[in-house]
Amino acid sequence: MMTTHDVIRTQKIGIMGVGNMGQAVLSAFIDSGIVPRENIIIANRSERKLKKVANEFQVRSVNTNEQLIDESNVVIIGVKPQDLYQAIEPIASSFHEDHVVISLAAGIPLASLEKLIPNAKKILRVLPNTAAKIKLSVIAYSSSAGATHHLKWIEDLLSTMGFVVAVEDGEMMEAMVVASSSGIGFVYELMMYWQEWLGERGISANIAKQVTTKVFAGAAAMAEAAPQVSFEELLRKVTSLKGVTAAGLESIRELEIERALRISFEKAAMRDKELGQTWIKID
Ligand SMILES: NC(=O)c1ccc[n+]([C@@H]2O[C@H](COP(=O)([O-])OP(=O)(O)OC[C@H]3O[C@@H](n4cnc5c(N)ncnc54)[C@H](OP(=O)(O)O)[C@@H]3O)[C@@H](O)[C@H]2O)c1
Repeated sequence: MMTTHDVIRTQKIGIMGVGNMGQAVLSAFIDSGIVPRENIIIANRSERKLKKVANEFQVRSVNTNEQLIDESNVVIIGVKPQDLYQAIEPIASSFHEDHVVISLAAGIPLASLEKLIPNAKKILRVLPNTAAKIKLSVIAYSSSAGATHHLKWIEDLLSTMGFVVAVEDGEMMEAMVVASSSGIGFVYELMMYWQEWLGERGISANIAKQVTTKVFAGAAAMAEAAPQVSFEELLRKVTSLKGVTAAGLESIRELEIERALRISFEKAAMRDKELGQTWIKID
C-alpha cells in the first residue's frame, strides 16, 4: 500500500515566488528528505533571485509561471498578497482540476482564490508563521471541498515546516493570523519588557536577552512535555500560596492585562480584515 510519503515522492512541486517564505518552504521540503530535489521547480519575478536560489538549493528553475504550472502537480504560490492577483489572473486558465494549489498569501480568503482560479478544484489557503524558517512554524490551513481526499499527504508535506492545524476559513483563520502569525511579534514585545526590566536591575542586555529567551523556551518546553496538563494546572504548580509568583500574578490580574491583550488581538483581527479587502478585488 502507498504511504503518504510515497505519494509525496511522486509529486512535481512548483514554487512560484521564492522570497522569504518561498525559500523557507523550499528548505523545509528538501531537508525533510521526503521531497526529492529533482521534483521541485521554482519561478520568480526577478531573474537574479531565481538563479541565486536555484543555485543555492540545487533545484530547477523555469522562466515563466505558465511553465511552472504546466510542469507541476502541486503549485505553491509564494508571492505577496498585493502581487497575487496580477500574477495569477492572466494565467488562471493554465491550471486544471488535477492541480493542488497552495496559496501562502496572508489575508486572501479561500473563496477569493476559488474565484480567481476556477479550473482548480483542490485549493488550499495555508498560513505558516515566520518560524517556518527553522521548521517550528504553526501552519494553519483551510481547503476547498475538492481537496478533501488528498489532505493526508498534503498535511504531511506541510508538516515539514512545523505543526499543522486545519481550520475553517473566516473567523478561525483570522484567529490564527492574529495568534500565530502576529503572535510571534506579540511574544517578542513581551520578551522586550522582560529584558528591559532585567537591564534596569543591572543585568547586561546580552545576558538579559538570553535569560528571557530561556524562560520563554523553558515554559513552552514544559507545556509541550505535558500535553494533557492545562496551562491553569501548570501555573498552579509553579505558584505557592502567598509566594513571589502569587504576588506578581495578583497584580497582573488587577491590572487586567488579559483585557488589554484581548483588545489588542481584536484590533489586529480588524486590520487583517481591512487588508484582505484592499489587497484583492476578486469578489
Ligand atoms: N514572510 C513571512 O514570515 C510570511 C508569513 C506568513 C505568510 N507569508 C506569505 O508568504 C508570501 C510571500 O511573502 P514573503 O515574505 O516571502 O515575500 P517576499 O520575500 O517579497 O517574496 C515574494 C517573492 O515573490 C516574487 N514575485 C512577485 N511577483 C511574482 C510573479 N508575478 N511571479 C513570480 N514571482 C513573483 C518576488 O520576486 P522579486 O524577486 O522580484 O521580489 C519575491 O521573490 C506572502 O503572500 C505572505 O503573505 C509570509
